[in-house]
Amino acid sequence: MSLYNYVWTQNGITAKDSLVYPFEERGLQFGDGIYEVIRIYQGNYDLLEAHIDRLYRSAEAIRLKVPFNKETIIASLQELAEKNAVQTDAKVYLQITRGSAPREHTFPDVPSNLYAYIEESPRPVAQLKQGVRTILAEDIRWDLCYIKSLNLLPNILAKQTAKEKGAFEAILHRNDKVTEGSSSNVFIVKDNVLYTHPAAKNILHGCVRNRVLTLAAESALEVQETIFSTQQLLDADEVFITSTTSEVMPVIEVNGNRICNGEPGVITRRLQLAYEKVSEIQRTASTS
Ligand SMILES: Cc1ncc(COP(=O)(O)O)c(C=O)c1O
Repeated sequence: MSLYNYVWTQNGITAKDSLVYPFEERGLQFGDGIYEVIRIYQGNYDLLEAHIDRLYRSAEAIRLKVPFNKETIIASLQELAEKNAVQTDAKVYLQITRGSAPREHTFPDVPSNLYAYIEESPRPVAQLKQGVRTILAEDIRWDLCYIKSLNLLPNILAKQTAKEKGAFEAILHRNDKVTEGSSSNVFIVKDNVLYTHPAAKNILHGCVRNRVLTLAAESALEVQETIFSTQQLLDADEVFITSTTSEVMPVIEVNGNRICNGEPGVITRRLQLAYEKVSEIQRTASTS
């Protein structure tokens, strides 16, 4: 997918080809930084404030100085989309690191580095319609997964294994208790009750997860934020995953076991439609 030409850094908006960072960069050498991926539908940001709030929570958790206040970040991201004349479905990647300094573990006394760029990102329309296959993988990450840190090695390894097995996502579990996906949150439906892992420190508190919980409450669906097992996942009536780019994605298979006869479930579909409505997705606009 192509990147838009202008990027935003701590020094302002600039053409991406003019951007150079030194190789002694904390993000590069230590993964010492945080990030957000934010949806753009037809040129308009979705859930922007929720993402920026989470960015600040991540920054606070790792004692990282965000170089701008929230209002400036939001205004600058708006300016970036305008400068790039974004009108398609896209996403912005925003990263902040602890700056450029000689490699030493302790914090350097230098300003943070920030960059943000926008990439075209069509909605995964076919998969949203048909559902996706998943695998199970052990959750080998650290305890503080609510921090959206750059350290994604376990997530990358799980997602790669999923890909090699022809699956869309790896659903992670610790001692047979489901936590979340390698880049998504996981929900199951059983006997008309919606279950998802509580927003504890060991999962990312997904912005789409939060919106789905609100939509479920609005539609009088019973919700339980509670830990469930891999067996409960396999025995579920319906399964879906959520994320900024995958929205409400039906899961039709886990480790080769069909869920809901290999079809997206009724409650999943209802939440999917409610999600599309609330995020004002112009469905005709993009394909995949
Ligand atoms: C590990 C993990 N969990 C959950 C999510 C979903 O978060 P959001 O809904 O904010 O995109 C992501 C998104 O990238 C993720 O990486």
